[in-house]
Amino acid sequence: MSGVRVGVIGATGAVGRELLALIGERQFPAREVRAFASERSAGTTVSFADEELDVEVVSPAVFKDLDVALFSAGADVSRALARDAAASGCLVVDNSSAFRMDDDVPLVVPEINARALEGHGNLIANPNCTTIVNAMAVAPLHDAFGLRRMVVASYQAASGAGAAGLAELWSGTRGYLAGDEPAPEVFAAPLAFNVVPRIGVPLEDGGTDEEAKMGRETRKILGIPDLEVVCTCVRVPVARAHGVAPTLWFDHPVDLARARLALEEAEGVRWDELPTPRAASGKDDVLVGRLRAVPFEERALTLFAVGDQVRKGAALNALQIVERLVTHR
Ligand SMILES: NC(=O)c1ccc[n+]([C@@H]2O[C@H](COP(=O)([O-])OP(=O)(O)OC[C@H]3O[C@@H](n4cnc5c(N)ncnc54)[C@H](OP(=O)(O)O)[C@@H]3O)[C@@H](O)[C@H]2O)c1
Repeated sequence: MSGVRVGVIGATGAVGRELLALIGERQFPAREVRAFASERSAGTTVSFADEELDVEVVSPAVFKDLDVALFSAGADVSRALARDAAASGCLVVDNSSAFRMDDDVPLVVPEINARALEGHGNLIANPNCTTIVNAMAVAPLHDAFGLRRMVVASYQAASGAGAAGLAELWSGTRGYLAGDEPAPEVFAAPLAFNVVPRIGVPLEDGGTDEEAKMGRETRKILGIPDLEVVCTCVRVPVARAHGVAPTLWFDHPVDLARARLALEEAEGVRWDELPTPRAASGKDDVLVGRLRAVPFEERALTLFAVGDQVRKGAALNALQIVERLVTHR
């Protein structure tokens, strides 16, 4: 499949623009790249390598002329178009939550569970961005000690809510400093100089759908159906890169030196004494540090990890999936 024809669906958004930038940067085997979005963006252009691509309006008809479709236009668009696109022979990687838990759809972080791609039916889901960052740090420790329970808090950047989220952080920050702060529209409370401990849709159990994703998607990626997970998702006034602070309980007693070695040797993970969002922004690797034993529990560890959620949490992960499939053909 060398020299594939690639379509980016949602090309004017935060993830779509990153996809185009990464296709340009990497040795991605594309012979044609097209940009799609809604009618709102018709007639505009987006940057790709050193050219400007015309933004086309996506429709069911476009997929017959594409080999690979990278969806990042939200779950409604994916539900409307992605299954038919895959059925017509187009390889689809979907960044939305539409199909992640469907039994016939692999949910893949290539460094962790690339084997799930075997026998795929042309439709592959990219996990939630916070789940990917967390899983990258947790998977090597699961391999070493056998994960049983996880309590995790997230520190999620404004751009995780798309281009509109980042714009609201900027306008809120400028407004706060000028004494004229606009009311929040994207976030549940003003984000500038604040943290907002609710992301996503509230659920009956008191959690949110964003928090539920961390549990069910981590179980599917790591292949631990009975993994116990408690998650609190928090929005922080950071432009880019999500942090996570998981405390992990294992089947076997842990050894700190062995845990650190497992992290240092893991593909896509970089040890960092003080991992911060600014250090992780624009980087492929997830930064992991602050690894500690838990004093009252010999089978537990705690750590901090941070990863660029637009990159490894979305665009890079999607391209790595396609690259694996191209290489393995
Ligand atoms: N931001 C992140 O960090 C992140 C990380 C992982 C996964 N995701 C997921 O990736 C997807 C995109 O997120 P984003 O942050 O890039 O959002 P975004 O910045 O708001 O961009 C949304 C994109 O979708 C397009 N779109 C919206 N409605 C459409 C329609 N009816 N038909 C065609 N195109 C349409 C928009 O085009 P117009 O310009 O025409 O409106 C725009 O290109 C979402 O499912 C999100 O959950 C995001």
